[in-house]
Amino acid sequence: MSSSTDRFARTADRVAARQDARAARLAGEVRDFVPLAGSERALDVGTGAGALAFALAPLVRDVVGVDPVRELLDLARERALPNTEFVEGDGTALAFPDADFDLVGTHRTLHHVARPDRVVAEMARVTRRGGHVLVVDQLAPGDAAEAAALHAFETGRDPSHTRLLTEAELHELFATNGLVLVRERRGDARRDLTAYLDLAACDGEARAGVEALAAEDPRVLAERVGWFLLVRS
Ligand SMILES: C[S@@+](CC[C@H](N)C(=O)[O-])C[C@H]1O[C@@H](n2cnc3c(N)ncnc32)[C@H](O)[C@@H]1O
Repeated sequence: MSSSTDRFARTADRVAARQDARAARLAGEVRDFVPLAGSERALDVGTGAGALAFALAPLVRDVVGVDPVRELLDLARERALPNTEFVEGDGTALAFPDADFDLVGTHRTLHHVARPDRVVAEMARVTRRGGHVLVVDQLAPGDAAEAAALHAFETGRDPSHTRLLTEAELHELFATNGLVLVRERRGDARRDLTAYLDLAACDGEARAGVEALAAEDPRVLAERVGWFLLVRS
């Protein structure tokens, strides 16, 4: 088991509870951002307990959620809707044929994967030409010192955190994979430190270290999330 799957297996209940608390908001954000006809076959890569899949479900024909963590998939299946399906799998090697989906999305997952470039390439591969790809993830700050402080904070809190990508890196990944930008937006929020550390079960020395980092540089509590809607060319 990798550090990522291990961390999410241990904290699956907390991840699902936070998902439930945010479900209505995410559903509204997805409805406003992604143009959908209702006939689409959709895929959510790194679905966790199904956050993006459940936001999409009322808007599409059917949606498949993929994640490597069984504990999260069990919680997704407990919440299942008639047009949702959850399967175990790795976003860097999706077990679907080319062009199998009309819409492929990923929500807050790329920064937990060692090879986000492979996830984006796989997302593009399984999307039909003219279909849409949705990428939502926290962004690395443009300032190098701020990015380094945030990286120390995030990896101290959660060793499964790999690396936040900058907007420029994401745009390069999109271009490399034939994904043409249709729409983008950014959302800024300030984290509640206690809730954020609890979510990752960050305790003991690690928690004290991360709290010290946040006291030293409160900018690490600022979260910028990028939303990118792309067409598969
Ligand atoms: C922060 S959670 C986000 C979960 C969900 N998308 C959400 O928004 O609540 C990151 C997710 O990435 C998943 N993950 C880690 N490595 C992965 C991989 N190689 N392929 C697909 N998902 C992966 C984890 O299991 C976890 O569910």
